[in-house]
Amino acid sequence: MTENMRSLRNFFLYKCLFALTFWNHVSLSVENELFTSVSNNFPEDDSDKKIKSLPLLYTKGHQSKANFDWVVIQNTTESLSLSEITNDNVKKLVALLSNFRRGSRLQNLTLTNVSVDWNALMEIFQTVWHSSIEYFSINNVTQLSDIKRYDFDYSGTAMKALTITKVLITDLYFLQDVLYIIFADMNIAALTIAESEMIHMMCPSSNSPFKYLNFLKNDLTDLLFQNCDKLIQLETLILQKNKLEHLHKVSFMTSHMKSLKYLDMSNNLLHHDAADVQCQWAESLTELDLSSNQLMDAVFECLPVNIKKLYLQNNQITSVPKEMAELKSLEELNLALNRLADLPGCGGFTSLEFLNVEMNSILTPSADFFQSCPRVRELQAGHNPFKCSCELQDFIRLERQSGGKLFGWPAVYVCEYPEDLQGTQLKDFHLSELACNTMLLLVTALLLTLVLVAVVAFLCIYLDVPWYARMTVQWTQMKRRAWHNHPEEQETVLQFHAFISYSERDALWVKNELIPNLEKGEGCVQLCQHERNFVPGKSIVENIINCIEKSYKSIFVLSPNFVQSEWCHYELYFAHHKLFTENSNSLILILLEPIPPYIIPARYHKLKALMAKRTYLEWPKERSKRALFWANLRAAISINLPVPDGQRWGEID
Ligand SMILES: *[C@@H]1O[C@H](CO)[C@@H](O)[C@H](O)[C@H]1NC(C)=O
Ligand SMILES: *[C@@H]1O[C@H](CO)[C@@H](O)[C@H](O)[C@H]1NC(C)=O
Ligand SMILES: *[C@@H]1O[C@H](CO)[C@@H](O)[C@H](O)[C@H]1NC(C)=O
Ligand SMILES: *[C@@H]1O[C@H](CO)[C@@H](O)[C@H](O)[C@H]1NC(C)=O
Repeated sequence: MTENMRSLRNFFLYKCLFALTFWNHVSLSVENELFTSVSNNFPEDDSDKKIKSLPLLYTKGHQSKANFDWVVIQNTTESLSLSEITNDNVKKLVALLSNFRRGSRLQNLTLTNVSVDWNALMEIFQTVWHSSIEYFSINNVTQLSDIKRYDFDYSGTAMKALTITKVLITDLYFLQDVLYIIFADMNIAALTIAESEMIHMMCPSSNSPFKYLNFLKNDLTDLLFQNCDKLIQLETLILQKNKLEHLHKVSFMTSHMKSLKYLDMSNNLLHHDAADVQCQWAESLTELDLSSNQLMDAVFECLPVNIKKLYLQNNQITSVPKEMAELKSLEELNLALNRLADLPGCGGFTSLEFLNVEMNSILTPSADFFQSCPRVRELQAGHNPFKCSCELQDFIRLERQSGGKLFGWPAVYVCEYPEDLQGTQLKDFHLSELACNTMLLLVTALLLTLVLVAVVAFLCIYLDVPWYARMTVQWTQMKRRAWHNHPEEQETVLQFHAFISYSERDALWVKNELIPNLEKGEGCVQLCQHERNFVPGKSIVENIINCIEKSYKSIFVLSPNFVQSEWCHYELYFAHHKLFTENSNSLILILLEPIPPYIIPARYHKLKALMAKRTYLEWPKERSKRALFWANLRAAISINLPVPDGQRWGEID
C-alpha cells in the first residue's frame, strides 16, 4: 500500500469519526435513517496490521491447506471447525457447505479468522441457513466490507443458535440498518453478537422467535428496542458491558417483552433519579442483574414487581428506603460492594431467603435483622469494617442464635475498629456484660463505693485504725530521728528493767505494793514510770514511747480500770509493737482483778487477743501466796537471773 492510499484512508477515517459522533447524537432514534459506521475509533496503528493480513498478501503455509487454503481445526460427522476463511477460499467453502443438505448429520459449524466481504459472508449464512447445521459460530470476522442490502431467504432452516463474536467492519459508509435488519429478522431461537462494537440493533419486522439474545460487550445505548413489541418470546436478554444509561428506559424496553424472565444489564452506565418518570417492567421478569452500574438508593423505586433474584452489587446504594414498594416475591438480593451503613430490614421483602451485603460500610449491623427477616436462610455480611463495640455484641449473640445462617462465619467477619482490635475475628471478641450495661456499671460502682465507705467506717470506728496509723508513723519517725542523731546509742539504750503501765485508779496499788516490792532488795530493779521519768519538752506519746524503748520489759497492770483507760491501751499497743518489731519477749501482764471478757471494748482487739493467748500473772488475794508472786515477778524482770525450774510464772493459767 502506498503513502497516497494511506493518507486517503486516514481522510476517510476522520470523516467517519465525525459522522459517527454526529449520528450518535441526532439520528439513532430515527429508524431506517441512513448513516455511516466503521469499526468505532479505528486506530491508525491497527490499519497497518489489517493491511498485512489482507487476503492477497496471505502467504502463510498450512499442512491441510493443499486443496482448500483453510485450516481444519475439527472434522467429525457432527461438527466442523475451520479457520482462515478468506475471499479466495470462500467459494469453495460455500460449495462444501451446500453439500450438507437438511437431513445430513452435520450439526455444528465453527468458523474462525474470517476475512471476507459482506456479500461472501451473506452467502455463507444463506448456505448454512438451508443446511442441517443447528449451531453456527463465527469468530473474529475482520475486514468486513461492501455492506449493502441483501435479500436474505429465512425460510426452512434447522438453525437453532447463531453466535457471532468480534466482528470488525472496515466499511466507511453504509446503511446501518441494512446490516442490523439481517440479524434482527433471523427466525432462530438464540442469537449472540458479542464484542463487536455494535451501536444499535433493530426491532424485528415481525413477531420474532428469539428466546435468547446476547449482545455482550458492545456499544448499545438506551435506544435499543424502544417501543419494540415483536420480541414476545424472548426469555433471556443479555446486555452486559454496553452503554445503557437510564434505568427507566430499560424498563420501558422490557415492557413489551411478555416472556422475558432474565435480564442482564450488568456493567453498563445505568442510573436512576428519583424525579424520573415511572418505570414499567415486563411482569414476567424474575431475575435482573443490575450489578456494576451507577445506581443509588432511588433504584428501589424502579424495580420489576415480580422479581425473585436481584443483583445490585457494585453500585452506590447507601440504604434501602423503608417506604419503597413491596417486592413480595424477592428471594435473593445481592447488595455486595455498595455503601450500605446497616443491614436492610425485610419490610418490603417478605420472601427474602438470601441476602448478600458483603464489602459495604457496615460498622455495627442492627441486631433485629433475623427478627424482621424470619425467612432468611443465609446472610452474607462478611468483609465489612466492623466496629467491635458493645452494640456489636448483640450481633454476635445473634449469630449464635441464628444457627449458622451467617455465611462465611467466622473467617470473613473481622474487627476493623478500634485500631487495637483490628484483625480480630468477631468470634474472638468479647466484652463483659458489665462493660456494656451502663445501668449495671453504675449500680456496681455505687455498691463498691458503699462497701468501701463501710469498710473505712468500720476500721475508723471499731478498730481505731487512724489512731494506730498516726502513732505508728510517730513511732517510726522517732526511731529514725534517734538513729540519725545517735546511731551508736542503739545498743546501749536500755536504762530500765521495766516500764509500768497502769490505770490512775490502780495507782495506789502500784505505788504501795508494786514499786516498793520491786525496787527494794538486792536486785535493785530500775522502773520507768512515765510520770516520774517524764522528759520535759516532749509530748506524752513521745514520753511513753521513750519509756518503753528504754525498758527491758513492760509491765501491765490489768484490771477493769485498765480496760477503761485509753492511755493504758495505747501503752499496751506500743509495747506490743516493740514486741513484734524487736522480736523479744518483753510483755509482762499482771492481772490485778479479774476482767470479764465482755467489758473489753471491741476495738481493743489486741488486748483481747493477749488475754486469750498470752499467760499472765495473777495478783493473789491471799497474803501467803504473795511472796511467791513477787519472786516470780522479779525473776521475770531480772535480766541476769535464770528462771527457777517448775516456777515459771508463765504457766499459771
Ligand atoms: C472431513 O473429513 C472427511 C473424511 O474423513 C473428508 O472427506 C472431508 O473432505 C473433510 N472435510 C474437510 C472440510 O476437510
Ligand atoms: C454443538 O454445539 C452446541 C452448542 O454449543 C453443543 O451443545 C453441542 O454439544 C454441540 N454438538 C456437537 C456434536 O459438538
Ligand atoms: C483475527 O483474525 C486475524 C486475521 O484473520 C488475525 O490477524 C487476528 O490475530 C485474529 N485475532 C484473534 C483474536 O484470533
Ligand atoms: C487466528 O489467527 C491468529 C493470528 O493469525 C492465530 O494466532 C490464531 O490461532 C487463529 N485462530 C485459529 C482458531 O486458527
